[in-house]
Amino acid sequence: MGRLDDKVAVITGGSGEIGLAAARQFVDEGAKVMLVDIDEDALKSAAEDIGENAAYHVADVSDPEETEAYIKATVDQFGGLDILLANAGIEGETGTIAETPIENFDKVISVNVRGVWLSIRYAMPEMQKRGGGSIVISSSVAGVTGTAGLSPYVTSKHAVIGTMRCAALEGAPHNIRCNTINPGPVESRMMDSLETQFAGGDAEAASQVKEGFEQQVPLGRYAYPEEVADLMLFLASDESKYITGTTNLIEGGFTIS
Ligand SMILES: NC(=O)c1ccc[n+]([C@@H]2O[C@H](COP(=O)([O-])OP(=O)(O)OC[C@H]3O[C@@H](n4cnc5c(N)ncnc54)[C@H](O)[C@@H]3O)[C@@H](O)[C@H]2O)c1
Repeated sequence: MGRLDDKVAVITGGSGEIGLAAARQFVDEGAKVMLVDIDEDALKSAAEDIGENAAYHVADVSDPEETEAYIKATVDQFGGLDILLANAGIEGETGTIAETPIENFDKVISVNVRGVWLSIRYAMPEMQKRGGGSIVISSSVAGVTGTAGLSPYVTSKHAVIGTMRCAALEGAPHNIRCNTINPGPVESRMMDSLETQFAGGDAEAASQVKEGFEQQVPLGRYAYPEEVADLMLFLASDESKYITGTTNLIEGGFTIS
């Protein structure tokens, strides 16, 4: 018996590294999964790779009509919705607050905050029809700590913790839970991008930036996407049925060092 038998999940950022790792695990545990992303080519190959229990829908998560459409497509295809993994996110550009172009701030907030809020807005009524559900939001250690030079991203990851708390309170009477996951650095394209940006584009300096981050992790290394997906699976499943309104660090001890 699978841990997500008979469950239907939407995963935004579904062709990204963490989203895809979660999608594989969800399907392995019996779920039907709708992958949502803005990157059509990557989505198509991700869905084909996973097989018949995955479908995909191209959407910009910051767009209300496209959000309504991907939720509707999920219900039309799989008969309902039980799990939302609000995971699409962008890192934006590094730089101090004084240097950051305002468009960069707006773009990051639009995808990382508005996108999460919109997904919940359209998903919750469908979960209510099923008698409950689980919403898991990809926040970050950047949601509970500051980082100089990364203010739009840090702001966005703090903001969705507020969204999570509201959704948990509003969802509780309907048996809808909502939690965030808060990873530290993960072996991924996103961390490669941040290391390169912090290093000013210099590859050698980027590897030193990475070493610096690793030294801040008591367990001495970045996480792997599959380890983050393990936590997403737990929070999506009924094993966590009494857990709501929580932030869940998965960061090798990053925030205690
Ligand atoms: N990688 C890390 O170290 C790390 C650490 C903590 C938190 N996170 C968070 O985890 C989530 C997943 O990160 P990842 O490492 O898999 O990154 P990723 O870049 O591999 O995946 C993110 C996905 O979101 C998609 N996306 C971007 N803008 C979109 C939009 N407007 N509409 C729809 N899709 C859009 C991208 O195409 C991409 O496939 C993000 O929210 C990220 O902030 C990542």
